[in-house]
Amino acid sequence: MQIEPSPSRYKDKMQYNRCGESGLQLPKLSLGLWHNFGDVDSYNEAVSMIQFAFDNGITHFDLANNYGPPEGTAEKNFGKILQHFPPSSRDEMIISTKAGHLMWPGPYGDGSSRKYLLSSLDQSLRRLRLDYVDIFYSHRYDPNTPLEETMTALSDAVRQGKALYVGISKYPVDKTLEAYQLLKANGTPCLIHQDRYSMLSRDVEQGILQTASEHGVGFIGFSPLYQGILSDKYLHGIPENSRAAKATGFLQRSQVSPEVVDKVSKLNAVALNRSQSLAQMALQWCLRTPQVQSVIVGTSSLTQLQDNFHALNYPQFTNEELQTIEHILSES
Ligand SMILES: NC(=O)c1ccc[n+]([C@@H]2O[C@H](COP(=O)([O-])OP(=O)(O)OC[C@H]3O[C@@H](n4cnc5c(N)ncnc54)[C@H](OP(=O)(O)O)[C@@H]3O)[C@@H](O)[C@H]2O)c1
Repeated sequence: MQIEPSPSRYKDKMQYNRCGESGLQLPKLSLGLWHNFGDVDSYNEAVSMIQFAFDNGITHFDLANNYGPPEGTAEKNFGKILQHFPPSSRDEMIISTKAGHLMWPGPYGDGSSRKYLLSSLDQSLRRLRLDYVDIFYSHRYDPNTPLEETMTALSDAVRQGKALYVGISKYPVDKTLEAYQLLKANGTPCLIHQDRYSMLSRDVEQGILQTASEHGVGFIGFSPLYQGILSDKYLHGIPENSRAAKATGFLQRSQVSPEVVDKVSKLNAVALNRSQSLAQMALQWCLRTPQVQSVIVGTSSLTQLQDNFHALNYPQFTNEELQTIEHILSES
């Protein structure tokens, strides 16, 4: 099967933001492959989603060594899907991967040592069938590895031509600045900071967003739908095939609590008033601040991706709408 990319893939379809002070532009909506692209998932649906994304200017695909399940299979499947595209498409894509969580047994398959990061990147490139990734991330801060060792491993990945840029993910505020400084001193400035951000997870508003923007580092938010809770799907129970119902899903049934569903139901009313889906409103809400340059959404079907894609077509929030949302979110 050969995929013919749509000739109109950039015509009034996606909006792009410059990532921090770099020259790299990221689509406001990026596609994440944490769930839904592993060997337990439908390969055909995965192909449809990647093709729709690419045909609509969603140029950024976010992966990690351990995405699947089983671990590694999201990279393997994405690498296989890339073979269906003309080779020139590679230059139109921003492909990221990460290392930092448990990937293989023994002392060298977890954490953030130089040994783990650089061997993992080699493995990722083989699974992805690529010579280089665009962004290589330290997936999480590791208190047992000197920060200098981790940051130098990232910088060396760039020097070896295996990554174009580097980023950090889920770093505590107090280690963030140090990481930025080390990377800058190495001549490979931190391109991007990736962390959780949604209406129901706002920790980055307590320092990360500000530190990133003050140092010219871009910010990309993950799980903007709070793993699907910020949609209308859990308003009347936990549907079969939803992430909370799946044995392989990271979302626990207990996270879909009556209190959360009550809040979500009020947010859903605001979205309906704006004639959009709650998922669309949740994405737009994350992107309301210029400090957030892109959000990485996950989708289990083409229909969901199409719904999310249209999020950017709705009017900006009024002050009154933002206050109503703030009020709902602050209710205990
Ligand atoms: N750096 C890190 O440590 C880290 C951690 C987590 C995630 N990430 C990145 O962020 C990406 C996104 O994370 P996520 O998958 O948790 O994101 P999310 O967008 O918050 O949740 C995705 C889930 O929401 C549901 N959904 C999506 N669109 C929908 C729609 N229009 N209507 C109804 N439901 C919808 C689907 O759930 P169902 O499956 O139930 O249909 C989908 O699987 C990951 O793939 C990964 O690239 C990074």
